[in-house]
Amino acid sequence: MGRMRSVGQTAYYGIWFLKGLLGSKRPLVNTMVITYHCNLKCKHCHIAENLHLVPQPHSISYDEAVEEMKASFERGTRVLFFEGGEPTHWRDGEHDLLDLIKAGKEIGYFVTGYTTNGTQALYTQSDVISVSLDGPREVHDGIRCPGTYDALMANLEKVDHPNIFANMVVMPENKHLLRETVQIVKDNQHINGLMLNFLTPPPEPKVLTLEEKRKVVEEALELKREGYPILNSRKALRELLIEDYSERCPFWASEFVMPDRSKCYGCPMRGESCRKCGFNAVREYSLITRGSLTTIMSMAGRFGLSTK
Ligand SMILES: C[S@@+](CC[C@H](N)C(=O)[O-])C[C@H]1O[C@@H](n2cnc3c(N)ncnc32)[C@H](O)[C@@H]1O
Ligand code: SF4
Repeated sequence: MGRMRSVGQTAYYGIWFLKGLLGSKRPLVNTMVITYHCNLKCKHCHIAENLHLVPQPHSISYDEAVEEMKASFERGTRVLFFEGGEPTHWRDGEHDLLDLIKAGKEIGYFVTGYTTNGTQALYTQSDVISVSLDGPREVHDGIRCPGTYDALMANLEKVDHPNIFANMVVMPENKHLLRETVQIVKDNQHINGLMLNFLTPPPEPKVLTLEEKRKVVEEALELKREGYPILNSRKALRELLIEDYSERCPFWASEFVMPDRSKCYGCPMRGESCRKCGFNAVREYSLITRGSLTTIMSMAGRFGLSTK
């Protein structure tokens, strides 16, 4: 990336941070939930079973998505993430996710990213790619669907990208498999680290007890000390043990645009789920807005600046 561009982006973040200290609450991240549809039905994900409850349409059109991306950019967001459902399955006529990534770049977003279950070919034009990995093959496939682990690994083999990380949701099925999972990541030259989250309810029965979470956090901190690529900042890992995060959630920093073009802040699960929030990103945002230099350093290079 050009040095001037990097300086410009860093300056923008610095001004956003300073204005935040003075009380200006403007969003920085725009997450576009472009579709609720998905090719899988993971055990821990409530999207598929609640599809009949959410308003139509269940996918946004290309033109609407671009309008929303422009409007959010005007409101100040510079980091653009595509979410779902499964964003790689999104289509509108000839358009696919790659067109949205390109449109985001043309609008001026510093960074584009998306989360995927990895069963489709990866769009390497995105600055950041988050692939879901919930454990070794048998456990990952048990949570997701038989064959998804091998499909993900095969698709990773086909790409050469500097910023792919794995997103793990810790739940009863995989709570004892942290070391094995981060070893898989360490041994895979296509993934550069593992980001841990706890399951956010629903489904309630899959939420770990606080004691179980504490053991996972302690193990993660130890693995980090041993040099394993766990990407959560140390402080965020500890704050994952603050289960009710509603008081600390910097909801204004993160805007969500839903398929029907409605907006929400913080995350679409905001409300009852906040009592047991397990999302790591929320801790990182909070620590950044509170000026934690170590968190800023550990997150900025990875998620703040374009790699393309
Ligand atoms: C909703 S999915 C959408 C993207 C894509 N379909 C995937 O699976 O990566 C985004 C991430 O949220 C995680 N997730 C789903 N349900 C969750 C829950 N209840 N609590 C925490 N994370 C959850 C998934 O495992 C995945 O890593
Ligand atoms: S692949 Fe993603 S969106 Fe689809 S069911 Fe699994 S977690 Fe939910």
